[in-house]
Amino acid sequence: MVRNICCIGAGYVGGPSMAVIADKCLDIEVNVVDIDLKRAELWNSEDLANLPVYEPGLDSVIERCRGRNLFFSTNIAKNIEKADIIFISVNTPTKNNGVGAGQASDLKWIEECARQIAKYASGHTIIVEKSTVPVRTAQTIKTILEYHIDDLSENIPKTFSVLSNPEFLAEGSAINDLNFPDRVLIGGDEKESIEVLARIYEKWVDPSKIIRTKIWSSELSKLTANAFLAQRISSINSIAALCEKTEADIVEVVEAIGSDKRIGKNFLLSGPGFGGSCFQKDLLNLIYIAKSYGLTQVADYWQAVLDLNNWQKNRISELIVKNLFGTVSGKKIAIFGFAFKANTNDTRQSPSILICNNLITEGAKLFIYDPKVAELNISNELNSDEQKTINNNGCWIKSNDPLDACLNADAIIFLTPWDEFKSFPFNKIYKLMRKPAWIFDARNCIDIELVREIGFNVWRIGS
Ligand code: NAD
Ligand code: UGA
Repeated sequence: MVRNICCIGAGYVGGPSMAVIADKCLDIEVNVVDIDLKRAELWNSEDLANLPVYEPGLDSVIERCRGRNLFFSTNIAKNIEKADIIFISVNTPTKNNGVGAGQASDLKWIEECARQIAKYASGHTIIVEKSTVPVRTAQTIKTILEYHIDDLSENIPKTFSVLSNPEFLAEGSAINDLNFPDRVLIGGDEKESIEVLARIYEKWVDPSKIIRTKIWSSELSKLTANAFLAQRISSINSIAALCEKTEADIVEVVEAIGSDKRIGKNFLLSGPGFGGSCFQKDLLNLIYIAKSYGLTQVADYWQAVLDLNNWQKNRISELIVKNLFGTVSGKKIAIFGFAFKANTNDTRQSPSILICNNLITEGAKLFIYDPKVAELNISNELNSDEQKTINNNGCWIKSNDPLDACLNADAIIFLTPWDEFKSFPFNKIYKLMRKPAWIFDARNCIDIELVREIGFNVWRIGS
């Protein structure tokens, strides 16, 4: 019987996914631990607006569970020791240096977790890979643990079982995705451990949605799911570019093709390219794995998905410059949206980063407005002051007031589809701007006919 869960890693996955487990399983104590003291402290903030992760609905789950059966801390050793199940939810970013740099996943945080578990665990412990990992990573974890099987902890020999249980939540809808998952995937070799984990999910997930597979299939399925989703976005973005040349309209094309059940309507929104911490990293990982098995054609196929995405981001900044008489040097431009998608404060790999950096390099003065992204996140992502001077005096300022961002601006660029943008007072905004006043809607997120009537020059993705 599971009484105690420990999750290593209190990030975008560890925090929300454990909060939902605690919410659904009142009989289980859930401890989420992190090496980052600041992060743990933020999870314990009195003011729920200060949680380190912004997700709709997360604050109320935290309010219900924190201090009851959900705890955040940096007490890694103690909580590993107490746990019946340990989820590993640490980061697995692309390697920066050495073998596989720029493609392979850096598994040093996973390895560190395995070593900590080997050292501090007691009795029988089920270890669950929740992080996204290259196929066959469970073998690395098992190998490290094998050296410690039967070590004694308070005279009881240690034993381990390793499962793969990848997370499929999307940011911005994480709580809903966790409450109502399309499926829960559990991969493993030991039936008993698989069932122990399945019973936890069965407290709120229909048993028919719990898929059991071999461990390697589970690991590979996670990379494959992200690759397929990313591929859909590159596919639709490639067609959006063709629409712009041919007077076809991407909205109509999506309606037409999405009605075919085999294609489906979801995940066909054209935009400035996909962002987020995972699609690029997981595609690169898949490409690296394919190459390492000598599957060059497979690697090239997935590389094309990434290449199209990078091309799309550059294409947007180039067309903005072209439309603004070929130069943005010294021009004020309002950037609406910096997060990689709506309803999150996450900026990792956001398409806004490359597009803003390109415009700064061209000398633009960007006023960036985003309802949830902190100034520090923007400054971590954009060109440094040093680059500013060599880059034609381009610069950026975080704006807290959309109207202020538009005062004397030449253009507004919509890069994240926040709902509030739809109801902006465009009449008032038009009057504030320098003419010709441009709107570049890279997310198809505002009423184009309305702003055109007001007098704006408009470019919209895929039209
Ligand atoms: P994150 O960077 O937000 O969080 C990871 C946390 O792990 C950090 O707070 C870090 O300090 C902590 N950590 C690292 N090593 C540690 C250690 N040895 N001990 C204790 N804490 C440690 O990352 P994330 O976005 O939550 O992603 C985690 C994993 O989940 C990745 O593999 C990612 O690919 C996958 N994933 C992410 C999402 C998402 O929406 N972000 C969705 C599905 C899967
Ligand atoms: C994605 C997957 O959707 C999750 O299933 C997965 O668990 C997660 O990655 C992960 O492994 O990290 P996420 O990156 O949070 O989730 O968000 P998505 O909704 O997938 O959006 C990713 C990017 O694609 C965003 O920049 C978004 O704006 C863009 N996108 C999405 C489009 O341009 N068009 C679409 O139709 C959908």
